Amino acid sequence: MDDLRDKYISLIAAAADESMLEDLRVQAVGKKGEISLKMRELGKMSPEERQVAGPALNALKDEINSALSAKKAALEDAALDERLRGEWLDVTLPGRARRVGSIHPISQVTEEVTAIFADMGFAVAEGPQIDTDWYNFDALNIPGHHPARAEMDTFYMHRAEGDDRPPHVLRTHTSPVQIRSMEKTGAPIRVIAPGRVYRADYDQTHTPMFHQVEGLAIDRDISMANLKWVLEEFVKAYFEVDDVELRFRASHFPFTEPSAEVDIRCSWAGGTLKVGEGDDWLEILGSGMVHPKVLANAGVNPDEWQGFAFGMGIDRIAMLKYGIPDLRAFFDSDLRWLRHYGFASLDVPTLHGGLSG
Ligand code: DAH
Repeated sequence: MDDLRDKYISLIAAAADESMLEDLRVQAVGKKGEISLKMRELGKMSPEERQVAGPALNALKDEINSALSAKKAALEDAALDERLRGEWLDVTLPGRARRVGSIHPISQVTEEVTAIFADMGFAVAEGPQIDTDWYNFDALNIPGHHPARAEMDTFYMHRAEGDDRPPHVLRTHTSPVQIRSMEKTGAPIRVIAPGRVYRADYDQTHTPMFHQVEGLAIDRDISMANLKWVLEEFVKAYFEVDDVELRFRASHFPFTEPSAEVDIRCSWAGGTLKVGEGDDWLEILGSGMVHPKVLANAGVNPDEWQGFAFGMGIDRIAMLKYGIPDLRAFFDSDLRWLRHYGFASLDVPTLHGGLSG
């Protein structure tokens, strides 16, 4: 019995996998296994012999069975260890950045402008790109005969034969959103309205579709001084410089009185634009105090409320900030251009996190 015990204990210890172990189990304690056969022999023994051999055989069987299950557990543990070693992954390795497309400079700049004005309490307003001539012109104090209509190279939509209402237009500027937002919420109001605008014009600095951002702030006591401060803060934040000098040049727009065009001091030394220094001036926007007729047209009482408005070309300030020489390239969908001038899609511009990464 001792031989049997030693044989199986050492065979079990040496078993390399679970199927070898199963073979050993059958050989030792299976129905026709060596130990089972020995147990059958108990019947032929004398009662005295049986009293000694019986418990000894049972103890041997138990010992073999527990050696088998201990070895089985050890083999399973080893197999699991092996598998885990194969699946091991260093989660502290840095990620591999894969660029999936890129953000168009127009979208980037729109986000930058929105982040800056949002910080000054301006909400974002929207209006339709196809609008009536009331919103695009009349409500903004540009009557039918006004030369500004011709200057704007307006795209007119067709009306059905026999329909003699004035045609819809593709909006020529974002200013109609001033009227729509004042109609919607009344005064006080503080909004910007970025979006697409359309004019029939095409050369290196003009495309039939381009982008503007409108600004509007109406309250009881808003003045040109507020306009000047807001624009200075904007230009500093947008061009990411500490100091800028703005020049307000008297101008004329039908929807503002007084009106001013705004230039920033800059230099073109070495062919690159630097904002805040130099002897050149660069026009960046039109602005003024909203005309009382415009307020009245939008249902806001001009005896109680006043404020400023401005309109700025998004494409133009994008070209200036990011050194993009030709406006038309914005709309060519050239992938090489987009890869060069585009922005990473997860870098959302914020004032605290940095505007342009
Ligand atoms: N709407 C004008 C344009 O497209 C720009 C503009 C000028 C907008 C003065 C304004 C403003 O709000 O006050 O040329």
